[in-house]
Amino acid sequence: MVSNFRQTVRGMRDFLPEDAWKLRFIEDSARKLARLYNYDEVITPVIEHYELLAAKIGEENRKRMYVFEDLGGRRVALRPEFTASIARLVATKMVSAPKPIRLFSVGSLYRYDEPQLGRYREFWQANYELIGSKNPEADAEILSLTSNLLSSVGLKNCVIKINHMGILRGILGSEGILEDKQNVIMQLLDKKDREKALKLAEEYGATSRCLETLKSLFRIRGSDKKSIINEIARVVNNYPDALNSLNNMSEIVNLIEYGGLEAKFYFEAGFARGLEYYTGIIFETYVPELNIAVGGGGRYDKLIELFSGIEMPAVGVALGIDRIMLAMEKQGVNPPKHEVARVFVIPINESMVAEAFKISLILRRNGIITEIETMRRSLSRSLSDANRREITHAIIIGPKEVKEGKVVLRDMKSKVQEEVKIEDLPSKIRI
Ligand code: HAM
Repeated sequence: MVSNFRQTVRGMRDFLPEDAWKLRFIEDSARKLARLYNYDEVITPVIEHYELLAAKIGEENRKRMYVFEDLGGRRVALRPEFTASIARLVATKMVSAPKPIRLFSVGSLYRYDEPQLGRYREFWQANYELIGSKNPEADAEILSLTSNLLSSVGLKNCVIKINHMGILRGILGSEGILEDKQNVIMQLLDKKDREKALKLAEEYGATSRCLETLKSLFRIRGSDKKSIINEIARVVNNYPDALNSLNNMSEIVNLIEYGGLEAKFYFEAGFARGLEYYTGIIFETYVPELNIAVGGGGRYDKLIELFSGIEMPAVGVALGIDRIMLAMEKQGVNPPKHEVARVFVIPINESMVAEAFKISLILRRNGIITEIETMRRSLSRSLSDANRREITHAIIIGPKEVKEGKVVLRDMKSKVQEEVKIEDLPSKIRI
């Protein structure tokens, strides 16, 4: 394929300063939240062994991995998600760490998805995993954190679509349909291809009672918790495992609603996720302005055990930073601008450049954002450039004042200028 190397590779993007600022704002908010909930940050590699990443990612995602052989002949891949890497890290380096283990990661991921609005081949996630507890309070914590992150960046009207893998798997399992076959059905449900999923269940030997149950389940959705839970309970009445799972979901939702949650729940009994490791609740978060999920997660009690042989239940979530950015744009939410002084130091001629350097360093040592005129423009052109870029203060360095240990400080807004002793500068620069 002929490529135009002057363009970014399809699905990859440059972030110009304004977008990079937004991305880092969300990343900072995610990191602050990790501290608030006491999650420790870990950093794992972008490149991992293919087998690790492919183990439980699901057929659709597996097909979209960037896989290649490194120069040492190893079959490696770019990570399409964090969860497999975290499971590896815990299974190999933290098995005996006191439980629960709370881990946070943030970074870029790679999936060969078809590029479109909100879907890129390189994207960013903020990922939280709570490892070691089977209890509903762990699931509730992850949901609380999810809702909190979305509101902390200023998003409104967030909805958490939720279901429990144990309901669908409980039904299919009691019909003797094994996990591998269940996974194929889940992939179809993830794509909302319910007709095909039913057909396949029939091919796999599901009884007509089972098919009727599934059909009824697929129709159940809505936000009225009590009536939805009752309806599901009625439909799955003959499937004890499914009923247990429903109770578990209900308990989690009750817990978190009692604590007060900004996001609203939306129950959808036919909802499944493409990742294969989920064993308990699964969820995705949405804002009304975007029809793609801004985050997703769930409980996965067997993945770490797969790598360690030791039982280690876990629940987690990943929030898509790019999609949060998009949702903020759609809702007209901007990252708050920190109103701080920004200083422009202008030497009025070449002989003052070294002095300008010295003064800039003094200001920066005092934590003041400072830049120096490096284009050697005239004073008036430097000032008009400062105006255009909303610089708050200009410091004009001339030989006459410097001889007296002074400079001219100009407030760019009021245009008021005064002579100030160099040592008094840091205390004079305020907005
Ligand atoms: P996921 O649903 O595959 O879950 O991804 C989570 C979020 O990443 C999505 O909701 C979306 O916001 C973002 N995302 C995914 N693919 C793309 C893309 N191509 N372009 C832009 N954003 C994207 C996971 O990755 C699981 N590891 C979550 C998890 C953590 N489950 C348990 N712990």
